[in-house]
Amino acid sequence: MGEPIRNIVILGGGTAGWMAASYLGKALSGQASITVVEAPAIPRIGVGEATVPNLQRVFFDYLGLPEEEWMGECNAGFKMAVKFVNWRTPGPGEPAARRDAGGSDHFYHPFGLLPAPDGVPLSHYWTRKRLAGTTGEPFDYACFVEPPLMDANRSPRFLDGTRCTNYAWHFDAARVAAFLRGFATGKQGVRHVEGTVSDVRADARGYIESVTLESGEVVGGDFFVDCSGLRGLLINKKLGEPFIDMSDHLLNNSAVATQVPHDDETHGIEPYTSSIAMPAGWTWRIPMPGRFGSGYVYCDAFADKDEAARDLCRLWGLDPEKAALNHIRFRVGRNRRAWVGNCVGIGLSSCFVEPLESTGIYFITASLYQLVKHFPERDVDPVLRDRFNREIVDMFDDTRDFLQAHFSLSPRTDTPFWRATKELTLADQIKEKIEMYRSGVPVNPPSTDESTYYGNFESEFRNFWTNGSYYSVFAGLGVRPRSSLPIISYRPGSVVTAERAFADVKARQRRLLSELPSAYEYLSHLYDAD
Ligand code: FDA
Repeated sequence: MGEPIRNIVILGGGTAGWMAASYLGKALSGQASITVVEAPAIPRIGVGEATVPNLQRVFFDYLGLPEEEWMGECNAGFKMAVKFVNWRTPGPGEPAARRDAGGSDHFYHPFGLLPAPDGVPLSHYWTRKRLAGTTGEPFDYACFVEPPLMDANRSPRFLDGTRCTNYAWHFDAARVAAFLRGFATGKQGVRHVEGTVSDVRADARGYIESVTLESGEVVGGDFFVDCSGLRGLLINKKLGEPFIDMSDHLLNNSAVATQVPHDDETHGIEPYTSSIAMPAGWTWRIPMPGRFGSGYVYCDAFADKDEAARDLCRLWGLDPEKAALNHIRFRVGRNRRAWVGNCVGIGLSSCFVEPLESTGIYFITASLYQLVKHFPERDVDPVLRDRFNREIVDMFDDTRDFLQAHFSLSPRTDTPFWRATKELTLADQIKEKIEMYRSGVPVNPPSTDESTYYGNFESEFRNFWTNGSYYSVFAGLGVRPRSSLPIISYRPGSVVTAERAFADVKARQRRLLSELPSAYEYLSHLYDAD
């Protein structure tokens, strides 16, 4: 047995830094001391407000924090899907969906799982009906329960707290970091050192030994987690690990963000993130009680800062001269290796894809899970490190490809940006998935059983984007399979069973629409009770 790690230093106090401190504090059960070093003078990125469902089960439940405990502290609202608006039709950025041959130019990518009559996902029976001309209903409304509930701004929970579908959260990123800091320094005994790191020392093997603050204070450790954000202070700057730029897959590299006050009582609170297509990218709208966050994610080769600010402000009727605008330049890609020597990058220091499917915080959660699974002794076993690095590469590249497919398969070619998205090369893996989709075969193993997806992170991690995800986006963008899954034609009994599943979706939609409270009502009830 080797010597265990006794001192962990986390550089950075953004979402990644405090998530890492809380998670490692719990995972190592007090056997290693943890110090977070944070420069109050260097601001956090301050965006990162939409999440995915496993945040509760893999992160907060692990820490013993029920959602009622953290939601109010973080001004959280619900997210049942990403709603894509105007990704098919040409035109300016506008929040209202335009119309095309497919009806309203919007579609949802919900977190719900598809039923699978006789082992075949409902999506494939829908394709069969669509190709036969016996349904004109869009895929998401026909196969998932959630779309009409979201149209009506319903809550995913009943007032007594019973959950009726899968969902994630929108929250205030600054309040999440503050909440987790309180938890980590209080419950997990994490030490918090404020100061700017100006020097980093490493030994001859390239293992980091200490960081030195501007004050002269030296903070030593035997394992380092780089959560310094886009600077990558330890892993890139000190250890020289190359960052692999992926702008040949995803063009967007900039964002302009703001906050917009919102009258929830009059208009309700939308329980989904919107992604509104724009001339040089897209704009997020992330509702939470009292306001919504919004940001235009764009490529600076196709819009400059002023243009982006003007187009964002026009969407919400804001004055660009008066609105508080946060301009952000980001890098898209990943480090060649996420873990080098005794240093692991987590958060923006490790990898980032633009926030189209809100994967930033998911990448942090998944990296922490994998780090704990492969957590080393002082002399790091390279097998553990290499396994971890492989997992992060696969996680990142799979998501990069899925995001690229959103742009690549969108029929929009009306601006130089949208035309340029079609000129990029897709990786072989996603090309294969698109071909599977077109030929009528399920793209990933159908995930219909909660215990094998949301209830089992190992399985979720390996198939993060389910057949339902690919279908939602591909069908939503108007791409149709050329045939339905052949085996269905040999099984008339399965078709009858599927018809019952479609009818069940409709019955549940009607019942839940009449029974569920609005998201506004639920959140007011939850927060008033605090
Ligand atoms: P962050 O930059 O927040 O923190 C870095 C920390 O390092 C700070 O505390 C800073 O003080 C410290 N630091 C830096 N240099 C230092 C030094 N020399 N000495 C000491 N301390 C130092 N994700 C998501 O899940 N959903 C979403 O909707 C979005 N949306 C989104 C939009 C845009 C435009 C971007 C760019 C990113 C997102 N993300 C996201 C990603 C999300 O913002 C991100 O994953 C988290 O905020 C994590 O950020 P970090 O903690 O890695 O860096």
